[in-house]
Amino acid sequence: MTTLIAFSGSLRKDSFNTRLIQALPSLAPAGTTIAHFDISELPLYNQDLDAETVPDIVAALRAAVAEADGVIIATPEYNHSYSAVTKNLIDWASRPFMKGPIIGKKSMVIAVTPGPGGGVHAAQATAEVLSLLGGTVVAQVTAATVHEKVDASTNTVTDAELAAHISQGLAAF
Ligand SMILES: Cc1cc2nc3c(=O)[nH]c(=O)nc-3n(C[C@H](O)[C@H](O)[C@H](O)COP(=O)(O)O)c2cc1C
Repeated sequence: MTTLIAFSGSLRKDSFNTRLIQALPSLAPAGTTIAHFDISELPLYNQDLDAETVPDIVAALRAAVAEADGVIIATPEYNHSYSAVTKNLIDWASRPFMKGPIIGKKSMVIAVTPGPGGGVHAAQATAEVLSLLGGTVVAQVTAATVHEKVDASTNTVTDAELAAHISQGLAAF
């Protein structure tokens, strides 16, 4: 049994990256469960809040990452890198110093865009940070023109190649 926790680094309602997170369970191998953890209410990282007692959502986030066998981050590409929301998630999950639950975790990075670039820079930058935190990035999945590859009404991946890449990535955990 493999338990994965998935995060979207986009807060917008019609986010393609969030849609892919919602499509993940249907693309996962048998025996893999994937929970979507909503980080829209996660405060901006502030070391003053990161005290002996932390906000409830931070405690829940850290517990969920600690308990999971791996983490999936789907991030939008903003200005050739990941979103601030993605970095905020990683920063909270990277603490306490040297003990943060994301340190050393297996991960998969997804970055999709409606444009032609396909989120390659966002995926690469996110993977670099996760690797520098001691983790193994088992897969990076990117896709251009994603609006043509996902059915917005059902959150289904309609593009066979993208679906296969996601399934292979999930199997790599
Ligand atoms: C501030 C900002 C910067 C962006 N920069 C890029 C970029 O560098 N490369 C790219 O392919 N798309 C870029 N985009 C377009 C996003 O890929 C697009 O809005 C995408 O739908 C965001 O992901 P989401 O659908 O998950 O919210 C940018 C969008 C915004 C709002």
